[in-house]
Amino acid sequence: MKLSRRSFMAGVPSATALSACAPWRLQARPDTGFPKDFIWGVSTSSHQVEGGAANNDFWFLEHLADTPFVEPSGDAVDQYHLYKDDIRLMKALGIPTYRFSMEWSRIEPEQGVFSAAALQHYRRVAETCLENGVDPYITLNHFTVPLWFAKRGGWEASDAPDLFARYAEWAAAALGDVMRGACTLNEPNITVQGAYFARRNGQGPAGDENLMARAARAAGSNDFSSYFFVDGLSIRDNFLQAHKKGYAALKSGPGDYPVGMSLALRDYQVADGSATAEEIRRGVVQEGHVAFYEAAQHDDYVGVQTYSRRRINADGVMRPPEGAKLTQMGVEFYPEALGATVREAWRYTKRPILVSENGVPTDNDTDRIQYIDTALEGLRGAIHDGVDVRGYIYWSFLDNYEWMSGYGPKFGLVSVDRTTQQRTPKPSAYHFARLIRSNGAALTPL
Ligand code: BGC
Repeated sequence: MKLSRRSFMAGVPSATALSACAPWRLQARPDTGFPKDFIWGVSTSSHQVEGGAANNDFWFLEHLADTPFVEPSGDAVDQYHLYKDDIRLMKALGIPTYRFSMEWSRIEPEQGVFSAAALQHYRRVAETCLENGVDPYITLNHFTVPLWFAKRGGWEASDAPDLFARYAEWAAAALGDVMRGACTLNEPNITVQGAYFARRNGQGPAGDENLMARAARAAGSNDFSSYFFVDGLSIRDNFLQAHKKGYAALKSGPGDYPVGMSLALRDYQVADGSATAEEIRRGVVQEGHVAFYEAAQHDDYVGVQTYSRRRINADGVMRPPEGAKLTQMGVEFYPEALGATVREAWRYTKRPILVSENGVPTDNDTDRIQYIDTALEGLRGAIHDGVDVRGYIYWSFLDNYEWMSGYGPKFGLVSVDRTTQQRTPKPSAYHFARLIRSNGAALTPL
């Protein structure tokens, strides 16, 4: 299926028709439980795979003295040069959608200076996708921002939404006709959740002031500000504005494709049945999820990105249960979280849901297969109950740079030898390919 705005909007039950919710449910194939035109895909982000993204805020922080990053991103997996091989590999595996991001710092290396060559590069990536039968689904901002933007206050600056919108206009004009889907911002809500807990615990605003102060000194700008390390609640309004303006900018360009944003959604669960825990759960969901659902009310879809659950008691977030299986990120191996978060997103928004990231960091590929199957079973259950889920995009296609954790965590369906840049699909890649080929029928029987 071509991922066009029109096809996304077709058959969307209205909010009032939710209880009956017939249109989408009836389209789910009885043999697989997934709708006929279900979108299957894989995801990456520019800084995590391209390599050499040396003009953005993360690269700068990776190279600070006393950096908290375990290692710098360096060459990453050199997708900037090897994108054709990666897309051909997707084609060989039969993966029909690729969600990747454009690196803003390449496109606008100095404020107001736009690089036609960088825009052409991403256009070539999208065209290569189309030539290989892969729908390009493009994220405009996946955490990293140009260094100049960070130096002038990052997302804290009052004109940040306008600067983002201008970049979005350039992106839309250059690539709108070759995009099959777009995401304005990746997880603008992720730091809000930490900020909520910090404030509740009386710690005041969250963030790493010390790191920002050191970065400011090194950058020669008191205003230096980088997304992960500032208080999420203090930049929320700017993010919401940026999304709104970015959405409008994308819609003003050529092409006709669904636009939304992707949200980091954790499955928050009350573990001790206490009223306080319930109050905390409601509070973090309200501040970190619902405020963003409200902003997504008019979007073409809501991007759901879920990895695990967080259990809450009267003291806040608990450690994983004794003896629980943990992932390489130290969180609980809990693929069931996805079924819960898509239901939550649907309950609040009644917009089509696209799972734009879900996956597990592990060296045990059998565990990855189990994770994917269990997550998809949860999704199938939600679809059966009337949730309008349009697709599932696995994170990540390749083992890549996991931000402050460096190259340790392995989320990929495909491993990479970072000396030769040789790609090797893991058994989970073939398993996922089988699932795609059968539109989910290869999953355990209904
Ligand atoms: C982010 C990715 C990240 C993944 C795994 C998501 O929050 O969008 O960039 O690699 O989680 O931690």
